[in-house]
Amino acid sequence: MASPLDLAHYIRSIPDFPKKGINFRDITTLLSDGPAFRECIDQLAAKLGHLGATKVVCAEARGFIFGAALAYKLGIGFVPVRKPGKLPARTISVTYALEYGTDTLHMHADALAAGERVIVLDDLLATGGTCRAILQMILMQHAIPVGVGFLIELDALGGRAKLIEGLACSPLIDS
Ligand code: PRP
Ligand code: ADE
Repeated sequence: MASPLDLAHYIRSIPDFPKKGINFRDITTLLSDGPAFRECIDQLAAKLGHLGATKVVCAEARGFIFGAALAYKLGIGFVPVRKPGKLPARTISVTYALEYGTDTLHMHADALAAGERVIVLDDLLATGGTCRAILQMILMQHAIPVGVGFLIELDALGGRAKLIEGLACSPLIDS
C-alpha cells in the first residue's frame, strides 16, 4: 500500500501576515495539489466518519473548502457559518476573539435539529475562538457536537483548551 503523503510538506508559512508577529499558515499550496487535497479529505473522513454525524458545520471562508468536500465524502449535510449580513433567514450569532482581531459569526437559527449529531471542521485551530463560537451556536440549537477536525493545530496557542472538555479533536498536522 502507498504510504500517506506528508501533508505538512504542502503548507507554506508566511511571516508577518496579516500583521507583524503572525506566522501565517498558507493552505493554498496544499489546495492546488490534487493528490494532497484528496489525501487531506480522505484522512479527515477516516478520523471523523465513524462519529455518526449527520451535519458538518464550517465557518467561511477556508472552512468551507474542507467542509464541503468532507460532507460530500461522508454523504452528510453541510451547514455554513458566515460573517454578518450574509445569511438570508433568521440567525443566531456569537462574537469572538481571533489571533489577530475580533469577529462575529452567524448561523441560521433552524440549521440544526435538536439532538442532531454534528462535526465542526476548519482548516486551522489557533486560539480556538472560531471553533468555540461555532460550538456555542451548535449548543444554542440543542444539537450535539460529536467531534472537531482541523487540517492544522497550532499547539502553542492552546486553542484546544477553549473547546468542550473531552470532545474528540482530530488535527492532521500539529505545529
Ligand atoms: C482563520 C481560520 C480559522 C480561524 C482560526 O479564519 O480559517 O477559521 O482563523 O483561528 P482561531 O482558532 O484563533 O479562531 P479567518 O477568521 O482568518 O477567516 P478566513 O477563513 O475567511 O480567512
Ligand atoms: N488563523 C488564525 N491564525 C492563523 C495563522 N497563524 N495562519 C493561518 N490562519 C490563521
